[in-house]
Amino acid sequence: MKKILWIASLLLLPLTINVQAAGGYSIELESANNNLRDQESLKRGAVLFSNYCMACHSLKYMRYNRVARDLGWSDAEVISDMAHGLDTVTDNVMTRMQDGVALDVLGTKVPDLSLMARLKGDDYIYTFLRAYHQDDQGEWNNKVLKGTAMPNVLEGIERHSTPEEYAEAARDITNFLAYAGEPSKLQRLDLGWKVIAFLLVLLLLLYLLKKEYWRDIKH
Ligand code: HEC
Repeated sequence: MKKILWIASLLLLPLTINVQAAGGYSIELESANNNLRDQESLKRGAVLFSNYCMACHSLKYMRYNRVARDLGWSDAEVISDMAHGLDTVTDNVMTRMQDGVALDVLGTKVPDLSLMARLKGDDYIYTFLRAYHQDDQGEWNNKVLKGTAMPNVLEGIERHSTPEEYAEAARDITNFLAYAGEPSKLQRLDLGWKVIAFLLVLLLLLYLLKKEYWRDIKH
């Protein structure tokens, strides 16, 4: 009995860790409401990512030609809209920052964002991007990641747009990072539905077959 309880508590352990992680943020996360099927949003997100994030961040597991194919861009378009100045689309999406500069200027390393949406969730990124605020001394801080070394890079957009436009920009960037975290998610979901549909048809056929086999047998 003791053994069973022990095993059960071990099985529950990941659950408790998760609960703690979920409760770890100092503010409620807002819902990102992003939609991976909205290609225009993904394209806008990619352009914003290129303009506002790639000065520091990379997406080292993504290649430009993969982004182009998934978002419906031609190779020339991905170069002009996202990969300014590159002459090949087979490169990975790397930061424009020189090695070592982040440590000198920001005092820390900058994380690669390829898997950030998988790690922290879409709502986290959306809320984090919108959680910058100025204290009485005019210093910027972030309600989600207090004392973060990342500056409020979307301040310009916030200042020059309506709250709706600003929310949309954060949502588009979040959407693009969610896509980057799992580029083939839509194919996976679509394939899942096809498999279920196939299994249902198979079930029907097998049921009819079974009826046919048993038709003349008394049972
Ligand atoms: C000036 C450099 C710089 C720019 C530009 C920048 N970041 Fe960051 N970012 C950082 C640094 C440094 C960190 C690590 C922060 C820390 O640990 O305090 C970070 C961390 C993050 C994190 C992880 C937060 C966490 O909880 O660990 C996310 C998500 C993120 N950035 C998204 C973005 C997005 C999206 C953009 C573009 C809109 C962007 N960043 C632009 C420097 C930058």
